[in-house]
Amino acid sequence: MNREQRLAELKRRRDEALAGGGSERVAKIHAKGRLTARERLELLYDAGSFVEVGAFVTHRCADFGMAEKRITGDGVVAGWGQVEGRLVYAFAQDFTVFGGTMSEANAKKICAIMDLALDNGAPVVGLNDSGGARIQEGVLSLGAYADVFLRNTLASGVVPQISAIMGPCAGGAVYSPAITDFTIMVEGTSHMFVTGPEVIKAVTSEDVTMEDLGGAMTHNSKSGVAHFAARDDADAVRHVKRLLSFMPSNWAEDPPRRPCTDPVDRRETRLTTIVPESADKPYDMKDIVRMVVDDADFFEVHEHFAANIIVGFARLNGRPVGVVGNQPKVLAGVLDIDSSVKGARFVRFCDAFQIPLVTFEDVPGFLPGTRQEWGGIIRHGAKLLYAYCEATVPKLTVVVRKAYGGAYDVMSSKHIRGDYNVAWPSAEMAVMGADGAVNILYRDELAKAKDATSARRKLVAEYNDKFASPWVAAELGYLDDVIEPADTRPKLIAALEMLRSKRQEQPRKKHGNLPL
Ligand code: HXC
Repeated sequence: MNREQRLAELKRRRDEALAGGGSERVAKIHAKGRLTARERLELLYDAGSFVEVGAFVTHRCADFGMAEKRITGDGVVAGWGQVEGRLVYAFAQDFTVFGGTMSEANAKKICAIMDLALDNGAPVVGLNDSGGARIQEGVLSLGAYADVFLRNTLASGVVPQISAIMGPCAGGAVYSPAITDFTIMVEGTSHMFVTGPEVIKAVTSEDVTMEDLGGAMTHNSKSGVAHFAARDDADAVRHVKRLLSFMPSNWAEDPPRRPCTDPVDRRETRLTTIVPESADKPYDMKDIVRMVVDDADFFEVHEHFAANIIVGFARLNGRPVGVVGNQPKVLAGVLDIDSSVKGARFVRFCDAFQIPLVTFEDVPGFLPGTRQEWGGIIRHGAKLLYAYCEATVPKLTVVVRKAYGGAYDVMSSKHIRGDYNVAWPSAEMAVMGADGAVNILYRDELAKAKDATSARRKLVAEYNDKFASPWVAAELGYLDDVIEPADTRPKLIAALEMLRSKRQEQPRKKHGNLPL
């Protein structure tokens, strides 16, 4: 071959790689509203910045007629580039090539960029769209998955990992996204399940559709497996980019700060009246969060799951923070199994990646009932407690209203290394609410009282005078301050500034034993 021929061969092969499974298959997925792997990567990366690795890789399977079927790239496009100017590694499974299935050869590409990501300290984004293990390769494909799972695990807590599910994701394949930090699913076109509807029918006789079993809203609202539901592929990629904007590239870096135009000394007088006078009336904790953070910009995570707790990202004076809040609008903001696990996972992510935690507290306690007790609320509630105890990032807590019982301790209290704990004058901090307390403390007196109703009213009022306030906690030093609600933003920003250089060591150990 002469030079020209060699260049022509390069071009031919490059074109082959770019063509993936061919125009017919591309048209088929476009007709379903899905984009190709390369189109998705184009949306993710800053224009012209994507550098592909392994574009010419093919499989080496010869069984089941595969020797004659080799497609350049083998169903995964992998590489690196800039996302809003920062280095990010990504792989995208190409459904047009053998259904995007995992092969020995294409897994090596995924592993290669994950190894680079670990060595260079930059996030990994996986755009998943795959029929799972490539059946023709048998155990080779299973081994390939395990190679990826191991890297997901090793990278956990070192670099952020984000998974977008943009097509099928079945069988053991779900476990790679499950180990990553965040999972985004596309409504209508993505599905995740360990065993599909047909197997379920055969084993349990249950009838269930793909969508009901493992569609985007199922995993966003029922199982909590997914953190975001996107409208379409482009929206899923937007979610990935927005998430990345709050994260450092790796655990040793601070999260990226942005210029802030929202005044740091902004007093928010609407906060003065936001908590209803009656302790039983709900309000929306998200309103409080939006009034406090920069530009009212709150990026909620797990919006549709366990809505009695809210978690998400925001900025204070341009610095990313992780916000956790009890939500009085849903189940009175009580802590239950799902909300504990949701909160714990978010707290641990923030702690792993140096993102300070801001907790807005209004919690009547843990949810009573056999479903909760038999479901293991002790074990699951302990996860949230453990996560907050373990976290060494700056921890700021605002007690907005109720801080009752064990939930008071759990929600980033002073005792578990809260750095700046303040309350609004509307705070109520005690072992339990007045009605419950009076029932226990004065059971005999109330039984004997001539007018039990008025006796009870008097006792409840006495209890409320003493405990339905922040003052006992403030006198004990369990609060650093009691603040006017309107001052919340400036006070939090000042505390965050003070905690800028916070570093706290844990006792030496291999790793803790989170109560799983
Ligand atoms: C090889 C596969 C494949 C697979 C799909 N294809 N899945 N090839 N191994 N697992 C191929 C199809 O033969 C087809 O090839 C092309 O991909 C597109 O598939 P279609 O069926 O035409 O597409 P669609 O109708 O959209 O259905 C997509 C699908 C379905 C829902 C993913 O293909 C399906 O159910 N596949 C099997 C899924 C599965 O059971 N996977 C194994 C899970 S167990 P042609 O050449 O016709 O275009 C697993 C274990 C992992 O993954 C363990 C890790 C520990």
